[in-house]
Amino acid sequence: MIENKDMGQPKQFLLVLLSVVFLFLTYNLVTAIMHYKKVNSKRWTPAELYNELLIDPVIEMPENAKKTKNERLLFHVALTATDAPYSKWQCRIMYYWYKKTKNLPGSEMGKFTRVLHSGSPDNLMDEIPTFVVDPLPPGLDRGYVVLNRPWAFVQWLEKATIEEEYILMGEPDHIFINPLPNLARGGYPAAFPFFYIKPTEHEKIIRKYYPEEKGPVTNVDPIGNSPVIIKKDLLEKIVPTWMNVSLQMKNDPETDNTFGWVLEMYAYAVASAFHGVQHILRKDFMLQPPWDTETGKKFILHYTYGCDYNMKGELTYGKFGEWRFDKRSYLRGPPPRNLSLPPPGVPESVVTLVKMVNEATANIPDWDTK
Ligand SMILES: *[C@@H]1O[C@H](CO)[C@@H](O)[C@H](O)[C@H]1NC(C)=O
Ligand SMILES: *[C@@H]1O[C@H](CO)[C@@H](O)[C@H](O)[C@H]1NC(C)=O
Repeated sequence: MIENKDMGQPKQFLLVLLSVVFLFLTYNLVTAIMHYKKVNSKRWTPAELYNELLIDPVIEMPENAKKTKNERLLFHVALTATDAPYSKWQCRIMYYWYKKTKNLPGSEMGKFTRVLHSGSPDNLMDEIPTFVVDPLPPGLDRGYVVLNRPWAFVQWLEKATIEEEYILMGEPDHIFINPLPNLARGGYPAAFPFFYIKPTEHEKIIRKYYPEEKGPVTNVDPIGNSPVIIKKDLLEKIVPTWMNVSLQMKNDPETDNTFGWVLEMYAYAVASAFHGVQHILRKDFMLQPPWDTETGKKFILHYTYGCDYNMKGELTYGKFGEWRFDKRSYLRGPPPRNLSLPPPGVPESVVTLVKMVNEATANIPDWDTK
């Protein structure tokens, strides 16, 4: 009897526990399915589903941050640029595709500004809406030109009149491939997660700029300042700190050596965490050929990597391909019109890139002479 009683209670307890666990799992499953149904009226590919589930992995969205249907929240499209030929031709292509997608259904793009940090106007002032700001004082950038970015944004936000409540920070090598909605939600900006930005793997360095009392290092998002869609008042808080942290990082040899060319991305990530700002991470914000092979439903095509292929359509990354498109081939002037299309077998994203470049260059007047 005693034995039975002793055995009975744990068994009952186990049963109750199992039921609780089962209920919990069912609840989670049902919630997941409901979420899945909500975002899916059609069948999604595994890759799309993966992207969907990756959206907003950490942040719980407060109810009041969700937006009601039909409400359009315009964002201003801003990019920082110089008057170098390399920057100019990329800006012209970007502005062309901004104009083509701006008024399509689903777009919440507002006005456009090229923030030109060369200190004086150039010959694109009539073609692209431009705001001229000063470069950093000589010597301060220590040869690292992208430190001009935060400084340009500081000046632009202070001096320009910006109608929209939100801002997209873009870059000249961005092409809008689909109408871009406002992916931010209230106090939560939207950003693209970069696989190579890993704050948690550099805890010791991050802590130099993000003290323990501010929170765990996991609060520093794996992002840079671009692409980001963010409320203007938040950006106004972050940008001076971003500037400050960039300069401090550049002046610290350990940080400078470790972060190298992505230093200013880390600086933005740290600066936003410093102000308690966390980003909604959207993998569908951007794609980067040749690594991403399909454009799909993504919004921005970023052509920062060289695309090298042999005539069999095989990627020869790092080795000059028999067919290639690399923005760095055109440092001193624009690429010619009507670039040759890649050989058969090259991924759709690369073909789309070349076609979009060709369409822009064919339609921009005086392409070769500016
Ligand atoms: C910049 O950094 C210094 C040193 O950490 C700090 O004293 C100063 O308040 C910072 N300024 C801004 C605008 O963040
Ligand atoms: C573009 O180049 C192809 C050959 O690569 C040629 O057949 C075509 O006519 C050219 N198109 C224009 C508009 O120049």
